[in-house]
Amino acid sequence: MTYVVTEACIKCKYTDCVEVCPVDCFYEGENMLVINPEECIDCGVCVPECPIEAIIPDTHSDMEKWVELNAQYAKKWPNITRKKNPPEDADVWASVPHKFPEHFSPEKGGS
Ligand code: SF4
Ligand code: F3S
Repeated sequence: MTYVVTEACIKCKYTDCVEVCPVDCFYEGENMLVINPEECIDCGVCVPECPIEAIIPDTHSDMEKWVELNAQYAKKWPNITRKKNPPEDADVWASVPHKFPEHFSPEKGGS
């Protein structure tokens, strides 16, 4: 199994999760992060760090899409290991459901 970052992260990107990962397996897109399922050691320590519960184990139902998306973009986006400031409107987007269709960006993040 692995843990994956899901839709809730889009436009929130709080990045508390990256600070605790022992194998640095988070990757940064323009407006969300993903986990590389091949590198994740399933420790689960990142899960409680995310203030909006965006990190879910792939054993939950309907996770196939997210496992695929995390695997795909972990290969394209840069690694992120340090917390950075979230977008100014992150708290507004935190309560918005179903962000993927209109707000997911395939562009890479980082500076
Ligand atoms: Fe990193 Fe552990 Fe989270 Fe996997 S479960 S992304 S290894 S902190
Ligand atoms: Fe995203 Fe939560 Fe990490 S919002 S960047 S998964 S702390």
